Amino acid sequence: MNNITIKSPLDMHLHLRDKEMLKIVAPLSAKSFSAGIIMPNLVPPITTIEDIKNYKQRIIDSIKNEKFEPLMTLFFKNNYTYKFLEEVKEYISAIKLYPSGVTTNSHEGVSNMNIEELRETFEAMSELGIPLCVHGETDGFVMDREAEFVPIYEQFAKNFPNLKIIMEHITTKNSVNLLNCYDNLYATITVQHLFITLDDIAGGMLKPHLFCKPIAKRYEDREALLSVALSGHHKVMFGSDSAPHPTDKKECFGCAAGVFTAPIALMALTSLFDSNNALENLQAFVSDNAQKIYSYKPLDKRIELTKKPFVVPLNYANIVPMFAGEELPWSIVTK
Ligand code: DOR
Ligand code: ZN
Repeated sequence: MNNITIKSPLDMHLHLRDKEMLKIVAPLSAKSFSAGIIMPNLVPPITTIEDIKNYKQRIIDSIKNEKFEPLMTLFFKNNYTYKFLEEVKEYISAIKLYPSGVTTNSHEGVSNMNIEELRETFEAMSELGIPLCVHGETDGFVMDREAEFVPIYEQFAKNFPNLKIIMEHITTKNSVNLLNCYDNLYATITVQHLFITLDDIAGGMLKPHLFCKPIAKRYEDREALLSVALSGHHKVMFGSDSAPHPTDKKECFGCAAGVFTAPIALMALTSLFDSNNALENLQAFVSDNAQKIYSYKPLDKRIELTKKPFVVPLNYANIVPMFAGEELPWSIVTK
């Protein structure tokens, strides 16, 4: 097959930032995708209906003429009242929980994962049908942080069977296995975690532009992620976690975590699914599964790709993308 058309591709985990950065990156996502789940970790985070409405409008203004729906999220706080959650529900697609301090702009996140402390909010979300997106890492040893979070996911899943829980950007074989243990657990997977392991980041010359949280893991972990994504498993969806940082914040002492993949994600995924003879499952991974999980009907938008090489730019303004300067076998047909 030399051409493929994807119906309404969705990016179910996206950082668009704000101000100048937003103006650079939002149109790039809108070129490939018909909607995206927009992460709320701005400074300060998105915690009110006003914040959501205003940020959504700034995103729409940045996109200009492209068809793209920003699906908004709220930054999880444990003191939201039922009444507030009932009101905010119509403006959001999910609430994102960050353990405090585990990643970029997460210091206002939750410092105590105690189930009893979270019960009231989780019960309200279950009742109102608001999905919970989770950054599942502890503050332990960097390679073990996601594995150490597994018992917490299990407690969440067992205690709140009616809460839809999305394990964001999973990176380990353990997390893949967990998906089949609980009906209410789902997952997103990024581009970078399907392509790289820790070796690509730190095994040779250090590659700061591949550094993100959670960090890419071992070969067997990547294999497990690949096999579940390529099979089109119904509980797994694409979420890029595209997280742009300006070059001076990446190429320095104290490199910010985040890989910028938004402009190349769909081409990289098509190339990957093709080289693994799995193109027939790409539509499920980049759209259909997410539609079912989120009960979401996307805008009608078709993106055609062709098997012609795309040379990834060295930078988009002051941001370096994944695969900068490299060739991807598939490109988007621009009309
Ligand atoms: O690498 C990351 N960057 N991981 C996250 O969880 C957040 C993100 C960001 O916002 O930069
Ligand atoms: Zn993220």
